[in-house]
Amino acid sequence: MKKLIAPSVLSADFANIQRDIEMLNESEADYVHIDIMDGVFVPNISYGFPVCAAMHKYSTKPMDFHLMIQNADPYLEDCIKSGAEIISVHYEAHNHLHRTVTRIRELGAKAGVVLNPHTPVDVLEEILPFVDLVLLMSVNPGFGGQKFIETTFAKVRKLRTMVDTLDSEILIEVDGGVTDKNAGELFKAGADILVAGSFVFKSDDPAQTILNLKSA
Ligand code: DX5
Ligand code: ZN
Repeated sequence: MKKLIAPSVLSADFANIQRDIEMLNESEADYVHIDIMDGVFVPNISYGFPVCAAMHKYSTKPMDFHLMIQNADPYLEDCIKSGAEIISVHYEAHNHLHRTVTRIRELGAKAGVVLNPHTPVDVLEEILPFVDLVLLMSVNPGFGGQKFIETTFAKVRKLRTMVDTLDSEILIEVDGGVTDKNAGELFKAGADILVAGSFVFKSDDPAQTILNLKSA
């Protein structure tokens, strides 16, 4: 596994977003994780494309979009225009997932599929050859600062076996409740990328916290 960190700016200070993006530029973060919510698929609304474009203007790190949107198809080009290098869509929110991930790749981004905590990894069998990344939610999506769901470790291990069996380069990302208490075990279970929002941005020294998570 690769040990990459994607801080989620959902927990950043939106009144000082340029400052927080510049902090990430100077840090060891590998991606900037962008959570887009529609108030339908999840019971919350975060920020939209003009805000993403503003962050992209200052960011030197690749932007990793996590779309918590019921049918993201009409918005894929907006994601690209506002800086997305990875676009991940929820399995539970797309009736024609193969079409959606294929379109993401055609647009030049890496395509990811996200699974909610209740969705088994077995549903990925037919879609894995068409994606670059799988994002496993370790909380129910919609809010930062929630408690990590412990059964995620076993889920990561199961997915790691599936990916290795395919001899594929697919990245495994985990999102929700990541802290220094679970990061090491998640990497050991086979995760490549850990998303961390509140644990990074609510800490006294976010850049150091990112470094600590990388060496977990
Ligand atoms: C939750 C989002 C997460 C969130 C993680 O729906 O997908 O990316 O920002 O926040 P923490 O790390 O605080 O759980
Ligand atoms: Zn997320």
